[in-house]
Amino acid sequence: MKITVIGTGYVGLVTGACLSEMGNHVLCLDVDPAKIKILEDGGIPIHEPGLLEVVRRNVAAGRLEFTTDIERSVAHGTLQFIAVGTPPDEDGSADLQYVTAAARNIGRLMTDFKVVIDKSTVPVGTGDKVKAAIEGELARRDIQLDFAVCSNPEFLKEGAAVADFMRPDRVVVGAEDERAILLMKALYQPFVRNRDRLIITDIRSAEFIKYAANCMLATRISFMNEMSRLAEKVGADIEMVRVGIGSDPRIGTQFLYPGVGYGGSCFPKDVKALAMISAENGMPSKMLAAVEDVNEEQKMVLVNKVVAKYGDDLSDKTFAMWGLAFKPNTDDMREAPSRVIIGELLKRGAKVQAYDPVAKDEAARVMAGWEGLSYAESSMGALEGTDALLIVTEWKEFRTPDFDAIRDAVADKVVFDGRNLYEPALIRSFGVEYHSIGRG
Ligand SMILES: NC(=O)c1ccc[n+]([C@@H]2O[C@H](COP(=O)([O-])OP(=O)(O)OC[C@H]3O[C@@H](n4cnc5c(N)ncnc54)[C@H](O)[C@@H]3O)[C@@H](O)[C@H]2O)c1
Repeated sequence: MKITVIGTGYVGLVTGACLSEMGNHVLCLDVDPAKIKILEDGGIPIHEPGLLEVVRRNVAAGRLEFTTDIERSVAHGTLQFIAVGTPPDEDGSADLQYVTAAARNIGRLMTDFKVVIDKSTVPVGTGDKVKAAIEGELARRDIQLDFAVCSNPEFLKEGAAVADFMRPDRVVVGAEDERAILLMKALYQPFVRNRDRLIITDIRSAEFIKYAANCMLATRISFMNEMSRLAEKVGADIEMVRVGIGSDPRIGTQFLYPGVGYGGSCFPKDVKALAMISAENGMPSKMLAAVEDVNEEQKMVLVNKVVAKYGDDLSDKTFAMWGLAFKPNTDDMREAPSRVIIGELLKRGAKVQAYDPVAKDEAARVMAGWEGLSYAESSMGALEGTDALLIVTEWKEFRTPDFDAIRDAVADKVVFDGRNLYEPALIRSFGVEYHSIGRG
């Protein structure tokens, strides 16, 4: 099939690359010429395991191309995927300007039947807005052309995006047009061959499924974070509680890890956006307000532990920090808790020496000019000349470190672990003072 993907970010690039892997001819459009240049030069603008190989293979086969030329992109695909950003507006609602701009471009330039598929995470009812935007442009041109609108929310996880796209748990397609349903079924059939994982719904339900899924996951995290604080008070170990409840199949083991709060480009904005949708419909969500409140507080948990130990004036302290990205295997720094934690430490006069296996450049970009923040080239290098270590992202390479080396390099022999990576008794047996989350 001939496919256009509009927006070549995390979702658009993975979608385009994986669809081309199945033999489709994909053209990826972006309005950012710098991104397209990187792709045309044989690189990729993000860190995503396995993605570069898929991109290179399909570019070489002539099935995957990149462009900034909107006219060419509209002409190319019968299927037009919209995968542009939907960042939060000032009031928290999803800003749809990029989605509607993409839709208008299609209406302005299309000359034959198109299926316009919204892959961005968008509020319920956006399908109607996309349809209206295209109809508006066609009316302006005074022509009638056939098109269909679908919703196809994306559930990939950054850090495992290629694997998630190639072997999805489910593919949700919200569509009401028979031709569009047939085309979408044919498109996704190779990805769901061993078991039918295709869920066909109406457009509004598909749009809702994405928000409900992300908000449910965020709720689990905030629930566990709140429980971890209580565990500290009552002298229980949240890690044992996690295993104890997770083994109930009705609960399951995933997304029960207490930490420094969720971040990234999706959960914070999607929780806000669904809360806004609830409020606009006259039923402000108490649950989502609590999920967000708990998360904001949780970003302060490590800082509070540091202040409890050292006091509020940290001007004679230098902290090593392991991990900057909002989660492992990505360089995405959007809403990363590390940004809040570093900001709070610097505000109290501390210096921070940070290390992240891949997010250093992105961190340096989003925290440019933050005085007192420097970067190290290795985890052990980050410890040099510091008083204590903070662990913020659970990269694999931090899981079994040399505890002797940590104790000897960090002046106060203190570790504040925001991800509960270590067995407390073990690390303490090396003479390290160990603070973690919810292990009273
Ligand atoms: N990142 C994730 O893990 C993830 C997962 C599932 C769903 N989503 C959703 O997918 C959407 C995209 O997220 P992302 O992380 O890929 O965003 P992103 O910011 O990485 O990429 C969006 C891209 O769209 C481009 N763009 C904006 N307007 C355009 C236009 N009119 N024409 C062409 N290109 C345009 C931007 O330049 C940018 O490169 C969001 O709605 C997000 O909520 C993201």
